[in-house]
Amino acid sequence: MGTSGRYGKYGETKRLSRLRKAGPGFQKAVPETSHSMTHTHLGSTRFYGTNINIVPADLKDSVYIRSLSKRVFSIYGHYDDTLTNWFLSGTSFTILALSGKKNVGFAMLGRSYLGHSASRVCELLALAVEPEMHGRGVGGLLLKAIENECRKNQADSLVLHTSVDNLPAQRLFRKFGFSALETKLAFYPEGQDAVMMSKDI
Ligand SMILES: CC(C)(COP(=O)(O)OP(=O)(O)OC[C@H]1O[C@@H](n2cnc3c(N)ncnc32)[C@H](O)[C@@H]1OP(=O)(O)O)[C@@H](O)C(=O)NCCC(=O)NCCS
Repeated sequence: MGTSGRYGKYGETKRLSRLRKAGPGFQKAVPETSHSMTHTHLGSTRFYGTNINIVPADLKDSVYIRSLSKRVFSIYGHYDDTLTNWFLSGTSFTILALSGKKNVGFAMLGRSYLGHSASRVCELLALAVEPEMHGRGVGGLLLKAIENECRKNQADSLVLHTSVDNLPAQRLFRKFGFSALETKLAFYPEGQDAVMMSKDI
Protein backbone atom coordinates (compact mmCIF):
# COMPACT_ATOMS: atom_id res chain seq x y z
CA MET A 1 0.00 0.00 0.00
CA GLY A 2 0.88 3.68 -0.11
CA THR A 3 3.23 5.84 -2.15
CA SER A 4 6.13 7.86 -0.84
CA GLY A 5 4.70 10.98 -2.48
CA ARG A 6 1.90 10.81 0.03
CA TYR A 7 4.28 10.98 2.95
CA GLY A 8 7.15 13.12 4.06
CA LYS A 9 6.34 16.60 5.22
CA TYR A 10 3.21 17.40 3.25
CA GLY A 11 2.66 14.12 1.42
CA GLU A 12 -0.55 13.24 3.23
CA THR A 13 -2.12 16.66 2.67
CA LYS A 14 -1.13 16.63 -0.99
CA ARG A 15 -2.58 13.18 -1.41
CA LEU A 16 -5.96 14.17 0.07
CA SER A 17 -6.10 17.31 -2.01
CA ARG A 18 -5.29 15.35 -5.18
CA LEU A 19 -8.02 12.84 -4.36
CA ARG A 20 -10.54 15.61 -3.78
CA LYS A 21 -9.70 17.23 -7.11
CA ALA A 22 -9.83 13.93 -8.97
CA GLY A 23 -13.32 14.50 -10.30
CA PRO A 24 -16.27 12.20 -10.00
CA GLY A 25 -15.46 9.30 -7.72
CA PHE A 26 -17.27 6.62 -5.85
CA GLN A 27 -20.81 7.25 -4.83
CA LYS A 28 -21.53 6.97 -1.11
CA ALA A 29 -17.92 6.09 -0.42
CA VAL A 30 -18.54 6.06 3.34
CA PRO A 31 -22.17 5.17 4.03
CA GLU A 32 -23.37 6.37 7.42
CA THR A 33 -25.73 3.45 7.95
CA SER A 34 -24.77 0.21 9.63
CA HIS A 35 -24.14 -3.08 7.80
CA SER A 36 -27.38 -4.52 9.07
CA MET A 37 -29.24 -1.66 7.37
CA THR A 38 -27.33 -1.62 4.08
CA HIS A 39 -26.56 -5.32 3.57
CA THR A 40 -25.27 -4.73 0.07
CA HIS A 41 -23.27 -7.90 -0.43
CA LEU A 42 -20.46 -7.51 -2.93
CA GLY A 43 -19.29 -11.13 -2.82
CA SER A 44 -19.23 -14.20 -0.62
CA THR A 45 -17.51 -17.54 -0.18
CA ARG A 46 -17.57 -20.50 2.20
CA PHE A 47 -14.53 -21.84 4.04
CA TYR A 48 -14.81 -24.77 6.45
CA GLY A 49 -18.51 -24.05 6.84
CA THR A 50 -17.98 -20.33 7.52
CA ASN A 51 -19.57 -17.76 5.24
CA ILE A 52 -17.40 -14.81 4.29
CA ASN A 53 -19.35 -11.81 3.01
CA ILE A 54 -18.02 -8.64 1.42
CA VAL A 55 -19.91 -5.45 2.30
CA PRO A 56 -19.24 -1.71 1.93
CA ALA A 57 -17.57 -0.21 5.01
CA ASP A 58 -19.44 2.44 6.99
CA LEU A 59 -18.24 5.23 9.27
CA LYS A 60 -17.99 3.19 12.46
CA ASP A 61 -15.61 0.81 10.68
CA SER A 62 -12.86 3.42 10.92
CA VAL A 63 -12.00 1.91 14.33
CA TYR A 64 -11.49 -1.52 12.77
CA ILE A 65 -9.58 -0.14 9.79
CA ARG A 66 -7.24 1.66 12.19
CA SER A 67 -6.79 -1.42 14.35
CA LEU A 68 -5.99 -3.89 11.54
CA SER A 69 -3.79 -1.35 9.75
CA LYS A 70 -1.78 -0.87 12.93
CA ARG A 71 -1.28 -4.60 13.28
CA VAL A 72 -0.28 -5.40 9.69
CA PHE A 73 1.10 -2.17 8.20
CA SER A 74 2.96 -0.41 11.02
CA ILE A 75 6.27 -2.00 9.94
CA TYR A 76 6.03 0.30 6.88
CA GLY A 77 4.97 3.53 8.61
CA HIS A 78 2.02 5.18 10.37
CA TYR A 79 -0.57 3.55 8.16
CA ASP A 80 -3.09 3.35 11.00
CA ASP A 81 -3.44 7.15 10.83
CA THR A 82 -3.00 7.40 7.07
CA LEU A 83 -5.53 4.76 6.06
CA THR A 84 -8.06 5.99 8.63
CA ASN A 85 -7.71 9.51 7.21
CA TRP A 86 -8.09 8.31 3.63
CA PHE A 87 -11.16 6.34 4.67
CA LEU A 88 -12.76 9.25 6.55
CA SER A 89 -11.96 11.69 3.74
CA GLY A 90 -14.73 10.02 1.72
CA THR A 91 -12.49 9.84 -1.33
CA SER A 92 -11.99 6.09 -1.26
CA PHE A 93 -14.17 3.05 -1.79
CA THR A 94 -13.68 0.73 1.16
CA ILE A 95 -15.06 -2.74 1.68
CA LEU A 96 -15.01 -5.16 4.59
CA ALA A 97 -14.88 -8.94 4.75
CA LEU A 98 -17.17 -10.35 7.44
CA SER A 99 -17.21 -13.83 8.92
CA GLY A 100 -20.64 -13.82 10.51
CA LYS A 101 -20.60 -10.46 12.31
CA LYS A 102 -16.82 -10.44 12.80
CA ASN A 103 -14.61 -8.23 10.65
CA VAL A 104 -11.85 -10.28 9.08
CA GLY A 105 -10.33 -7.87 6.57
CA PHE A 106 -10.75 -4.79 4.42
CA ALA A 107 -9.69 -3.33 1.09
CA MET A 108 -9.48 0.32 0.05
CA LEU A 109 -9.59 1.67 -3.48
CA GLY A 110 -8.59 5.22 -4.36
CA ARG A 111 -10.53 7.36 -6.82
CA SER A 112 -9.63 6.87 -10.44
CA TYR A 113 -7.35 9.35 -12.15
CA LEU A 114 -6.04 9.87 -15.68
CA GLY A 115 -2.71 8.19 -16.25
CA HIS A 116 -0.42 8.14 -19.29
CA SER A 117 -2.25 8.12 -22.65
CA ALA A 118 -5.35 9.42 -20.86
CA SER A 119 -6.14 5.92 -19.58
CA ARG A 120 -8.24 5.79 -16.44
CA VAL A 121 -6.35 4.27 -13.53
CA CYS A 122 -7.63 3.08 -10.14
CA GLU A 123 -5.26 2.39 -7.26
CA LEU A 124 -5.66 -0.26 -4.62
CA LEU A 125 -4.58 1.66 -1.53
CA ALA A 126 -4.70 -1.25 0.90
CA LEU A 127 -5.68 -4.87 1.24
CA ALA A 128 -5.49 -6.53 4.65
CA VAL A 129 -6.79 -9.73 6.19
CA GLU A 130 -6.72 -10.80 9.86
CA PRO A 131 -3.53 -12.86 10.29
CA GLU A 132 -5.39 -15.93 11.61
CA MET A 133 -7.57 -15.89 8.46
CA HIS A 134 -4.75 -15.84 5.90
CA GLY A 135 -4.79 -18.49 3.17
CA ARG A 136 -8.55 -18.97 3.22
CA GLY A 137 -9.49 -16.96 0.17
CA VAL A 138 -10.53 -13.76 1.99
CA GLY A 139 -7.86 -11.63 0.29
CA GLY A 140 -8.87 -13.00 -3.09
CA LEU A 141 -12.53 -12.28 -2.42
CA LEU A 142 -11.78 -8.69 -1.44
CA LEU A 143 -9.61 -8.26 -4.52
CA LYS A 144 -12.35 -9.60 -6.79
CA ALA A 145 -14.85 -7.10 -5.34
CA ILE A 146 -12.32 -4.28 -5.81
CA GLU A 147 -11.83 -5.26 -9.46
CA ASN A 148 -15.61 -5.24 -9.97
CA GLU A 149 -15.76 -1.71 -8.57
CA CYS A 150 -13.01 -0.63 -10.98
CA ARG A 151 -15.02 -2.02 -13.89
CA LYS A 152 -18.11 -0.13 -12.69
CA ASN A 153 -15.98 3.02 -12.72
CA GLN A 154 -14.79 2.31 -16.27
CA ALA A 155 -11.18 2.07 -15.18
CA ASP A 156 -8.69 0.82 -17.76
CA SER A 157 -6.23 -0.48 -15.19
CA LEU A 158 -5.75 -1.15 -11.49
CA VAL A 159 -2.38 -0.37 -9.91
CA LEU A 160 -0.97 -1.07 -6.47
CA HIS A 161 2.23 -0.92 -4.47
CA THR A 162 3.51 -3.58 -2.14
CA SER A 163 6.79 -4.11 -0.36
CA VAL A 164 9.42 -6.02 -2.39
CA ASP A 165 9.72 -8.52 0.46
CA ASN A 166 5.97 -9.08 0.76
CA LEU A 167 5.96 -12.34 -1.18
CA PRO A 168 2.52 -13.66 -0.06
CA ALA A 169 0.90 -10.44 -1.31
CA GLN A 170 2.83 -10.50 -4.59
CA ARG A 171 1.86 -14.15 -5.12
CA LEU A 172 -1.83 -13.30 -4.65
CA PHE A 173 -1.60 -10.30 -7.00
CA ARG A 174 0.22 -12.33 -9.69
CA LYS A 175 -2.41 -15.02 -9.40
CA PHE A 176 -4.99 -12.34 -10.16
CA GLY A 177 -3.09 -11.27 -13.27
CA PHE A 178 -1.05 -8.35 -11.94
CA SER A 179 2.46 -7.87 -13.26
CA ALA A 180 5.33 -5.84 -11.82
CA LEU A 181 5.91 -2.48 -13.55
CA GLU A 182 8.79 -1.02 -11.57
CA THR A 183 10.62 -1.02 -8.25
CA LYS A 184 10.49 2.17 -6.20
CA LEU A 185 13.39 2.58 -3.82
CA ALA A 186 12.77 3.62 -0.20
CA PHE A 187 9.13 4.03 -1.06
CA TYR A 188 7.74 3.50 2.43
CA PRO A 189 8.24 5.84 5.40
CA GLU A 190 10.22 3.09 7.18
CA GLY A 191 12.52 2.78 4.17
CA GLN A 192 11.39 -0.42 2.42
CA ASP A 193 11.41 -0.59 -1.37
CA ALA A 194 8.11 -1.22 -3.16
CA VAL A 195 7.13 -2.98 -6.31
CA MET A 196 4.42 -1.25 -8.36
CA MET A 197 2.09 -3.76 -9.98
CA SER A 198 -0.63 -3.25 -12.55
CA LYS A 199 -3.45 -5.12 -14.24
CA ASP A 200 -5.64 -4.20 -17.21
CA ILE A 201 -9.27 -4.15 -16.22
C1 LIG B 1 -1.74 -10.35 1.32
C2 LIG B 1 -2.99 -10.77 2.06
C3 LIG B 1 -4.04 -9.69 1.94
C4 LIG B 1 -3.52 -12.07 1.43
O1 LIG B 1 -4.75 -12.40 2.04
P1 LIG B 1 -5.25 -13.91 2.15
O2 LIG B 1 -6.63 -13.87 2.70
O3 LIG B 1 -4.26 -14.72 2.88
O4 LIG B 1 -5.29 -14.31 0.60
P2 LIG B 1 -5.94 -15.61 -0.02
O5 LIG B 1 -6.29 -16.60 1.05
O6 LIG B 1 -7.03 -15.21 -0.94
O7 LIG B 1 -4.77 -16.18 -0.91
C5 LIG B 1 -3.56 -16.53 -0.28
C6 LIG B 1 -3.27 -17.99 -0.47
O8 LIG B 1 -4.28 -18.80 0.12
C7 LIG B 1 -4.72 -19.78 -0.83
N1 LIG B 1 -6.16 -20.04 -0.62
C8 LIG B 1 -7.16 -19.27 -1.01
N2 LIG B 1 -8.33 -19.87 -0.69
C9 LIG B 1 -8.01 -21.02 -0.08
C10 LIG B 1 -8.76 -22.06 0.49
N3 LIG B 1 -10.09 -22.07 0.47
N4 LIG B 1 -8.09 -23.07 1.06
C11 LIG B 1 -6.74 -23.11 1.07
N5 LIG B 1 -5.98 -22.15 0.55
C12 LIG B 1 -6.61 -21.13 -0.03
C13 LIG B 1 -4.52 -19.09 -2.14
O9 LIG B 1 -4.45 -20.04 -3.20
C14 LIG B 1 -3.23 -18.42 -1.90
O10 LIG B 1 -2.23 -19.40 -2.01
P3 LIG B 1 -0.81 -19.10 -2.57
O11 LIG B 1 -0.16 -18.22 -1.51
O12 LIG B 1 -0.14 -20.40 -2.71
O13 LIG B 1 -1.02 -18.36 -3.85
C15 LIG B 1 -2.67 -11.10 3.56
O14 LIG B 1 -1.54 -11.91 3.60
C16 LIG B 1 -2.45 -9.87 4.41
O15 LIG B 1 -3.39 -9.26 4.92
N6 LIG B 1 -1.17 -9.49 4.63
C17 LIG B 1 -0.84 -8.32 5.45
C18 LIG B 1 -1.18 -7.04 4.74
C19 LIG B 1 -0.55 -6.98 3.38
O16 LIG B 1 0.61 -7.31 3.22
N7 LIG B 1 -1.32 -6.53 2.38
C20 LIG B 1 -0.86 -6.47 0.99
C21 LIG B 1 -0.24 -5.17 0.62
S1 LIG B 1 -1.44 -3.86 0.45
